[in-house]
Parts: sequence; structure tokens; C-alpha cells
Amino acid sequence: PRRVVSGLQPTGELHVGNYFGALRRCVRLQQQGDDVMLFIADLHALTVRQDGQLLEERVLDMTALALAAGIDPERSVLFVQSAVPRHAELCWLLACLATHARLAHLPQYKEKSATMKEVPIGLMLYPVLQAADILVYRGTHVPVGADQLQHLQVASQLVRTFRHRYGPAFPTPRPLLPDDGSDRIKSLRDPSKKMSKSEPDPKSRILLTDSDETITLKIRKAVTDFTPEVTYEPETRAGVSNLVTLHCLAADKLPEEAVEEAAGLSTAQYKREVAGALCAALAPLRARAAELRARPAHLHAVLRHGAARARLRADETYEHVASLAGLTRT
Ligand code: TYM
Repeated sequence: PRRVVSGLQPTGELHVGNYFGALRRCVRLQQQGDDVMLFIADLHALTVRQDGQLLEERVLDMTALALAAGIDPERSVLFVQSAVPRHAELCWLLACLATHARLAHLPQYKEKSATMKEVPIGLMLYPVLQAADILVYRGTHVPVGADQLQHLQVASQLVRTFRHRYGPAFPTPRPLLPDDGSDRIKSLRDPSKKMSKSEPDPKSRILLTDSDETITLKIRKAVTDFTPEVTYEPETRAGVSNLVTLHCLAADKLPEEAVEEAAGLSTAQYKREVAGALCAALAPLRARAAELRARPAHLHAVLRHGAARARLRADETYEHVASLAGLTRT
């Protein structure tokens, strides 16, 4: 059977890239009957400096958004990574199989570490912890954005190395990639880059908590090009095409339909359509999340329930793996 695993880092507020690229896809997999494990990756967040209080707040924000988006805490398992210590324990076993050379050459590591004076080892171990997140549940399918593909390659390499060293223990996890462009939503300020939680300009991304006015403003300011027609050509017209993608994801259309309907509109006029579609898709989600966010005790109860279920599953894998590795189980 398929086992879907995915994670969200609480390093900033969730944006539409995270939503269309990961969260909403998890909800749809849940609805089609898949076994979904979704967690908030607070241990990963610690690879860069965090304010503890803010981190805890963001974990609750994300829990509220995940529930508002449709994650059902009975059908799926929703939890915080650090509440399941097996992630970190399996990370250690895998770290002993990973090589410095491989990790030091990953583009995301090189990029992030380039600007740091002192590089924490945890930053280098980031993909190893991510592999542990998936393997500790014997995850088979991982719905993620395109930015996570290299991390998944590390995970499948670790599965192979583990098998050679100790014997078969994990299925090879596969990225689940969509065909609707949702895995690569671009920055609204620089469509050559992905939309990201960490880009300094807040107008580069639409947050799930943005008001209709803010959404409309950010779309109006989105960088396009000097051609007024609306076309869908992601390679050559990344800016407009990103707007078409967002429009389609929000309004459940195909790019051809959206472009046909936009015939005769300038990109400036089309932006109003896009903003309208995004507002319509996000407003109910935002309202549900705000209600849930006002009930922190309920959110904590949901996370406790999820963690208890996740621990049972993680224990089962870890017991097996630890005995393969010769760790004494007393
Ligand atoms: P994070 O928190 O950066 O992003 C959460 C999810 O959103 C996707 N995503 C995007 N999708 C489309 N367009 C974008 N512009 C965009 N930006 C982000 C990400 O690909 C991700 O799926 N390392 C992960 C968290 C993680 C994880 C895991 C994921 C930790 N352990 C195990 C899967 C399995 C991350 O930083 O996601």
C-alpha cells in the first residue's frame, strides 16, 4: 500500500506555493483514500536561528491552516516532528551512512551556507533528517514541490546504502509530482526564482493569511513583461505564466481555458481575474484557520493525538532497523 509522507517547515508563514505545491495535494490524497502523514518540521527549522516563542506560534498557525485546508486528523496523521523522537534517532543511523562529500555538494546547502560565517552541522544534516522523516514511516510517496527533489535523491541513496550495509529495511520513497505546475510556483517579484518563505520582499509571495486587499495588491504589483497579451509559456514568459498557473490552481481550470478566456485582456486586466480567483479560493480557508487558531487547546489536542499515532508507527520501523544495525534492544 502507498504511504504518503510530507512536511512543512515552520520558518515563516505558509504561502500559496506551499499550499498548492504540498498542503492541498496532501488533502486530495487523503480524500482519495491514501494514508497521509503530515508533520510540521520544527527540527528542520532549527538549522537556522529561530526565536523559540515565534517557532511555537508558527507551529500552531500551521496546524490551524492544515486543518482548515481539509486535513482530517482521524483519517490522516498530523503532528509535530519533534514530538516523535524516532526521527532524530533514525537520523543518527542514517548520518553514519551519509558522506560529507555528498552533503556538502548539494546546491541548497551550498547556497545557504555561502553567506554564513559559521556553518552549523545541522544544516549539512538537513537532508539526512528529511530522509529519516520519510523512512521512519516507510514512506513510499512524497508530495513536494520541485525544490525538494534533490533531498529525495539523498533519501533514496540512503535506502540503498542501508540495504547494502544491513539488509532491506525501507521502500524507496518516490516524489509525487503534479502536472499542473503546482510544484514550482514562482516569486511574484522575480519569476526566475521560486516563491519562498525566506525571500526578503513580502510582495514576492501570497500568504494564506493575506486579506483580499493584500492579495489584490500583490498580484497587481507582480512582475510580468512588456507583452500585453496573456499567454502560457513558462519557459519564455515566466511572469505571466506564473499568474496563469495560480489562476488555474485557484479556479480549477486548465491553462488553455484560462488563456482562451483571457483573450483580449491585457495582463493588467487579467491580474484582476487572477486576484479574484485567489481571493475566492483563499478566503474560506483563511476564515476557518482564524477560527481554529483561536482554539489553541484544541490544536494542541490534535497534535497530541497525531504524535501518539505517529510514535506507534515510528517505533515499529525503528525497532526493526535498530536490530539490523546491531543495537542492543534490552
Ligand atoms: P518547506 O517548508 O520549504 O515547504 C513546504 C512544501 O512546500 C513546497 N514548496 C513549493 N511548492 C511549489 N512552489 C513553491 N514555490 C514552493 N515552495 C515550497 C515544498 O517543496 C514543500 O513540499 N524540507 C522541506 C520540509 C520537509 C519535508 C520532509 C518534506 C522536512 N522533512 C519530509 C517532505 C518529506 C521544506 O523545507 O519544505
